Amino acid sequence: MERLHITGGRPLRGTLAVQGSKNAVLPILAAAAAVPGRVVLANCPPIRDVAVTRAILEGLGLSLREEKGLLTIDSAELRGCAPDPVLAGQLRSSVLLLGALLARLGRAEIPLPGGCVLGARPLDLHLRSLEALGVEICCREGRLLCRGRPRGGVAALPYPSVGATENLMLAALGARGPVRVLGAAREPEIRDLAAFLRACGARITGDGSPCLRIEPAILHGAVHRVQPDRMEAATWLCAAAATGGSLRLTRLEPQQLRPVLELLRQAGCRIREGRGSVCLEAGPLRAVGPVVTGPYPAFPTDAQAPMMAALLRAQGCTLFEETVFSERFRHVPGLRAFGARIETRGRLARVCGVEALHGAEAAATDLRGGAALVIAALAARGESRITQARHLDRGYGELVRRLQSLGATVEVEK
Ligand code: EPZ
Repeated sequence: MERLHITGGRPLRGTLAVQGSKNAVLPILAAAAAVPGRVVLANCPPIRDVAVTRAILEGLGLSLREEKGLLTIDSAELRGCAPDPVLAGQLRSSVLLLGALLARLGRAEIPLPGGCVLGARPLDLHLRSLEALGVEICCREGRLLCRGRPRGGVAALPYPSVGATENLMLAALGARGPVRVLGAAREPEIRDLAAFLRACGARITGDGSPCLRIEPAILHGAVHRVQPDRMEAATWLCAAAATGGSLRLTRLEPQQLRPVLELLRQAGCRIREGRGSVCLEAGPLRAVGPVVTGPYPAFPTDAQAPMMAALLRAQGCTLFEETVFSERFRHVPGLRAFGARIETRGRLARVCGVEALHGAEAAATDLRGGAALVIAALAARGESRITQARHLDRGYGELVRRLQSLGATVEVEK
């Protein structure tokens, strides 16, 4: 979709089942190229990044078939080690095919990836750690040419990069000896990838801790249910808080959302956690202590923009510090169009609540920034338009229908 038309000022009310996690399914889809045989995935979210990744895998000769909500992938006919550069250039997670194809084939030719522009997003942590395990990598005409299965050994990450951890896990599947990853990312998506790989016969321990160990093993097909999307859940909770609504979310894991739930409680929301569910009753919102993003289990960077949008009318001022990405306040100009009072300086942003927001037109700049604009439009009085709404399609499946099911007045503009 390109443009959203929203009439704001109404509270979101109702129940939603959280969809499968974008940031869990994308590495798992890449991993399918490393697993000989057939895997079956349940709970894949209906989002564009999954569609693009499926097209990339099909271009590599994998056969994919979806029926009754199950995605079956057969990699028996895997051919070639070079994903389509146009498709791969659309999303950053395509770089994970580097590790998967190295494990399977001992070689990979990966175009430099695309995805949300959130400042510099180098690949040095991916490449240096793979080279430390003996992989030969050179860059030619915008492509990474990689040769050689990793030898066993230790890969130390100076920063717990999610993608670099995932790439090492995948490459280690084809290593000639045990691989230990020190300084690994601990995100729940890492644990879901490890759970999938263990179901395929991989011998992985330490996932969720800073020290991962992967030992050589014979891999085979498996069935796996993708974990719920904690970022989609955070987005919906922030939207309910911003609009003074009440929301029941099901099919999620509340403990994965701890920092977000705590901040929303501090802001004045009443939150009840159940087994696989969270209920939020919004109250008059107040400013909260500094929101400092960081690697898991800190406050997640992907929830920074939605949380900022939720606090635009809170009483008082909230300081945000974005420590993960260098340019992740690109949604701020769009939020100001709705009347928000936000000052930024480098990685700091200070949001001071205003009495009311008014309708506006604003352009989405990235996936979570676009979500923040939608939240502001829902909380604003009057009509709004969100342009470049295609960013939202990347990570929020059936967004308009799901918003309408909560009482929002929102349409896609032709
Ligand atoms: C994953 O991106 C997620 N994407 C991001 O979600 C998420 O924001 C991020 O992890 C942090 O949690 C997917 O899982 C598909 P990183 P990734 O490597 O792997 C720097 C969303 O909205 N860095 O942990 O790219 C990097 O520039 C997306 O769903 C290097 O310097 O994140 C960034 O500043 C956005 N060199 C920081 O580390 C490297 O080689 C964190 O990046 C790699 C990363």
